[in-house]
Amino acid sequence: MGSVSLKIGDGTARFQRATLCSSAVNILMIFSVITTNLFALYAFTASPNQPQHSLLHHNNAHKNISLISEQVSLILREIDLSQKKLAQMEKELLGYESIDLSRPNIASELKLFLQRHQLPLGKDSRTGITEMVPSVGHTCEKNSDFLSQFMNYKVFGACPDDWSVAQKLILKGCEPLPRRRCFAKTVSKAGWYPFPDSLWKPVGNKTVNWSGLNCKNFECLNGKKLSRECIGCFDLVHGNENVRFVKAKSKNDFLVDDVMALGGGGVRVGLDIGGGSGSFAARMADRNVTVVTSTLNVDAPFSEFIAARGLFPLYLSLDHRFPFYDNVFDLVHASSGLDVGGKSEKLEFLMFDIDRVLRAGGLFWLDNFFCANEEKKQTLTRLIERFGYKKLKWVVGEKVDSVGSGKPEVVLSAVLQKPVRA
Ligand SMILES: *[C@@H]1O[C@H](CO)[C@@H](O)[C@H](O)[C@H]1NC(C)=O
Ligand SMILES: *[C@@H]1O[C@H](CO)[C@@H](O)[C@H](O)[C@H]1NC(C)=O
Ligand SMILES: *[C@@H]1O[C@H](CO)[C@@H](O)[C@H](O)[C@H]1NC(C)=O
Ligand SMILES: *[C@@H]1O[C@H](CO)[C@@H](O)[C@H](O)[C@H]1NC(C)=O
Repeated sequence: MGSVSLKIGDGTARFQRATLCSSAVNILMIFSVITTNLFALYAFTASPNQPQHSLLHHNNAHKNISLISEQVSLILREIDLSQKKLAQMEKELLGYESIDLSRPNIASELKLFLQRHQLPLGKDSRTGITEMVPSVGHTCEKNSDFLSQFMNYKVFGACPDDWSVAQKLILKGCEPLPRRRCFAKTVSKAGWYPFPDSLWKPVGNKTVNWSGLNCKNFECLNGKKLSRECIGCFDLVHGNENVRFVKAKSKNDFLVDDVMALGGGGVRVGLDIGGGSGSFAARMADRNVTVVTSTLNVDAPFSEFIAARGLFPLYLSLDHRFPFYDNVFDLVHASSGLDVGGKSEKLEFLMFDIDRVLRAGGLFWLDNFFCANEEKKQTLTRLIERFGYKKLKWVVGEKVDSVGSGKPEVVLSAVLQKPVRA
C-alpha cells in the first residue's frame, strides 16, 4: 500500500502514502485532492441512462467502466485509511484513544482533568511510569452529552445539583466519573448518633439533602418496596428490617450467628453486594465485624443512610471491578442484586471478581437469590460448582416475588466456602 495511481484520460496523478511523521495538514491536502478527483471521476462515469450503441462498443465500455470502478474502490479504501490515520494521530496528540477531545462542545474542565502529567523527575524507578494518567470510564464517550453537562460548572463554585446526572452516567458505564473542581452539595444540619448506637437508630430527615428525590423524608420511603433487598428497609423501628438476619421468616433465611459459626471465628471483614440500607453490615457490626456495603442511590439516599448508621457505603455499580485487592475478605454476602441479567458471561465475570476478593476458606453467602425459573437456577448451580466451593448450606425454596412478577419463584440460599487452589 505504497501509493495510489489515478488514471484519468492521459493524465496520471500519483500520491505517496503519508508517512507517520507527516503532518495532519499534508493528509488533509491529499484527502481533498483525492476527493476532488473522485468527484470528477464520478461525474465522468456515473451516467445511468447511456444511449445504446453497438454491442461491441457497449462491451468495451463495460470493461472500461469496471476497470475504473476497481480503481475507484482502491482509492476509497485509501481515503478511508487516511481518515482513520488522521483521527488516530489527533487522538494520540491528545493522549486518549476512546474519548475524542478534539470534538467541539467538549467541556474545557474535562480536557483539563484528562491532561496527562509528566512526573517532574522523569521515570519513577519503582513503578516504571513516567506520567500520571487520570482515569475515567471509557463508555463516558458514548454519553458525551451527559458528560459535558456534568463537566460544565463554575470552578471553585458550588457544583450544580446534578447527582442524578452523575448516577445516570455511572449506570451507563461511565465509571469512574471524572473528578471536578466544585463544591458538592451539603446538608445544612446533620444529627448523628455515636457508634454503635447509630447502627439501629432511625436516621433523621435532616441528614439527607432530598433535592432531586421523589420522597422528601424517611416516612415517605418507609412504606416503599424499592427492590428485593429493600422492602421498607429504611424503617429501623417497625417492620422487618430490624429482625433480618437474626430471625428467620423462611427456611431460606439464614441467621448471622449460624453462618459466622461456619466461618470458625475467622470472620472479621466482609463485603455486602447491593446491600440495601446496610442492615447486614449493621448486624455484623454488632458482632465486631466490619462490612462494606456496595450501593447506588437508586430512588433513595442509600449511601447517606448507610453512612449515618456509622457504616461504610461503597458507591459503585456492579459492572465495576471491586476496588479491593485479592483475598481480602472473610465473607461476601449477596442476594438478588447478583442477578445481572444478560449473557451468562456477565455473571461469570462478577463471580470471578467475588472469588478474587474472597480469601481461601472465606464464606460466600448467597442470600435469597430469586431465580426467575428452573433454568436460571441450573445455570447458577453449574457455575457455582465450577468454582469448586464447599457447600456448607444449600437451601432451595419457593417464594412469592413481591417486587418482581408477584408469582412464586425459585429461591436459592447457600453458604459456600472458597477452596484453597493450588
Ligand atoms: C475502451 O478502451 C479501449 C482501449 O483500451 C478504447 O479503444 C475504447 O475506445 C474504450 N471504449 C470506451 C467506450 O471508452
Ligand atoms: C440541598 O442542595 C441544594 C443544591 O446544592 C441546595 O441548594 C439546598 O440548599 C440544599 N438543601 C439543604 C436542606 O441543605
Ligand atoms: C421526618 O419527617 C416526617 C415528615 O415531616 C416526620 O413525620 C418524621 O417524624 C421525621 N422523622 C425524623 C426521624 O425526623
Ligand atoms: C465487640 O468489641 C467490644 C470492644 O472490644 C467488646 O466489648 C464486645 O464484647 C465485642 N462484641 C462481640 C459480640 O464480640
